[in-house]
Amino acid sequence: MTFTPRAAWADTPEPVRTAVAEALGATIAGHTDLHGGMSPGPAAGLRLADGRQVFVKAVSAEVRAHNHTMIRQEAAILDALPTSVPAPQRLATVEHGDWIALATTWAVGATGKSWTDASIAAVATACRTANGHLAPGTLPPVAQRIFDFDGWTRLLEIGTGDAWEAAHAGPAADLVAGWERWTAGDALVHRDIRLDNTTVDAQKRSAVLLDWAYAAAGAPWIDLAQLAADVVATGHTLGQPAATDRAYRLLRTLPPEASRFVVGLAGMWCIRAATIPDTVMPGISAWRHARSAALRPLVTRLIADLRPDQPAGHTRRPRKSVG
Ligand SMILES: Nc1ncnc2c1ncn2[C@@H]1O[C@H](COP(=O)(O)OP(=O)(O)O)[C@@H](O)[C@H]1O
Ligand SMILES: [Mg+2]
Repeated sequence: MTFTPRAAWADTPEPVRTAVAEALGATIAGHTDLHGGMSPGPAAGLRLADGRQVFVKAVSAEVRAHNHTMIRQEAAILDALPTSVPAPQRLATVEHGDWIALATTWAVGATGKSWTDASIAAVATACRTANGHLAPGTLPPVAQRIFDFDGWTRLLEIGTGDAWEAAHAGPAADLVAGWERWTAGDALVHRDIRLDNTTVDAQKRSAVLLDWAYAAAGAPWIDLAQLAADVVATGHTLGQPAATDRAYRLLRTLPPEASRFVVGLAGMWCIRAATIPDTVMPGISAWRHARSAALRPLVTRLIADLRPDQPAGHTRRPRKSVG
């Protein structure tokens, strides 16, 4: 998923491309632009003259300062990860003027457009492997990498948008309350598990987790909860009921906090869709809205499981008019 088409590697300033080649110790013999991911800068597979294939992504702070900071952050995180974590390895970082470029090892496999049972299994295994590690000491507590988890509470304050929200926002807000405490832990957490942040090798049934900028120390079930949410929000090749079913089944293997986390993510997409305009990334508001809408059947079920005393229809606070 990308909102602004990614820039082409060939349009990256020549001194940046040359500096990348120098840092990698080989000239660039060819490249293939990649189109997934969430940022506007180029991402490409580079074929080096010595035969290596590597991954590179780059961005100018002038284009988007946030992504520039994230690439620098990701570079430092990759260096701190043990090699037993299924992540690319950093090969080079180049800073030139406003530009930053990060080159890593190439991750075999493919980035799917929809989840399959095979890719869910492979990514779940990769998450469990990653999460079995203690977080490196340089990583912050995950509470610093979780945003807008008060979404349901804020939605109640600004006014719910329809009958489903009016019935569920109250119990959802109750379930998410105290998230800073119940998400804490010392496990390595990727914290941004989405299909477009993975490659899956169908033959080996293995996956590599990509895009580590948000990694943190937290509870060991967070990535699997995020996987469950993304299966529903990104979709399954067999359709939405299958996606909800696979997510629900995965969550049943995890502590109840994982389900509360999914409810928190749904509230995050909901409040962001409702309150953040599209100006920086055209289309992102509709994308967030679609994700929170896709999660409704799962969230309904999780609320019923976690708060059997609170049948749908209960609202904690008086409903305000939407206007
Ligand atoms: N090491 C890698 N090897 C192969 N492909 C990769 C690698 N890293 C990322 N990709 C591909 O490039 C896309 C964008 O990379 P990503 O790091 O997620 O960028 P962004 O930070 O813009 O989201 C991914 O969706 C994936 O398909
Ligand atoms: Mg990404």
